[in-house]
Amino acid sequence: MTILVIGSVNADLTVQATRIPAPGETVLGGDARVSPGGKGANQAVAAALAGAQVRLCGAVGSDSDPFRPPALSGLTRAGVDLSLLHTLDAPTGLALITVAANGENAITVASGANARFGPEHLPTDWSGLTHLLLQQELTPAVTREAARRAHAAGLTVILNAAPARAADPELLAHTHHLIVNEHELEALVGRPSEPTELESAARSLLELGPQAVTVTLGAQGSLTVTAETTDRMAAHPVQVVDTTGAGDTFCGMLAARVSAEDFLSAALHWAGLAAGLACTRPGAQDSMPNWEEVLEAQVLR
Ligand code: RIB
Repeated sequence: MTILVIGSVNADLTVQATRIPAPGETVLGGDARVSPGGKGANQAVAAALAGAQVRLCGAVGSDSDPFRPPALSGLTRAGVDLSLLHTLDAPTGLALITVAANGENAITVASGANARFGPEHLPTDWSGLTHLLLQQELTPAVTREAARRAHAAGLTVILNAAPARAADPELLAHTHHLIVNEHELEALVGRPSEPTELESAARSLLELGPQAVTVTLGAQGSLTVTAETTDRMAAHPVQVVDTTGAGDTFCGMLAARVSAEDFLSAALHWAGLAAGLACTRPGAQDSMPNWEEVLEAQVLR
């Protein structure tokens, strides 16, 4: 079982402040920190730390780009196969992140090489791959084409529709498992959903192609619907330090456990546990637990 992640690779430039500045406001924060990030790279690292075989296809800037080494450091450390990584004549993606005292964040991404990655950079040989894990930080044309080709090649396609975009019917038609938060769910269904309407909103997306739709709900856990089932998972209570990358941890762990042939409800349980642990430490990839830590947290519950 090998998971291919096609997605963004960034360096994260993070400042911790008491709160996220309002428009036009300046807030003084702590020391800046540069760490590995990007939703694609984060999910690849989370899946690899969970024990899966993972390959990453994406793009970064050249060797002379100061943000290339920090962007790649977590992937290398986690043992992700980077043979499908492209070096493009563009800056490495850079995310500017403010983390507030309550752990919430605001992120602005300078996409750089991620935005220059085109359909021509997608793999041509899909043999040996079983699962494709996608996000929405590459261009819509790339994400759609990747899902189409992977589906045709018989891979299971898992799409984390983050950051939020309006629904792309062709992309959803080639998606087996869709993972969204509440904002992304609203963007996909085209209207705000009251808490009581979440299940019907998620269910409406099943009609567009996915066999399962998971809505991550932060401290409220997650909700997953399939044609036959509704699965509500409570969150593991944690002391929140920084939520950056928690959603990516959820997606990477879910993909890893699904590829290890866990039942969906078990995979969702492990994903929620890992995401909770990731909130207890600063950073995106730097905060992600490995499989042993997740097992230990399960014992201590
Ligand atoms: O999901 C968190 C990630 O979003 C950060 O690591 C940042 O790089 C942005 O892509």
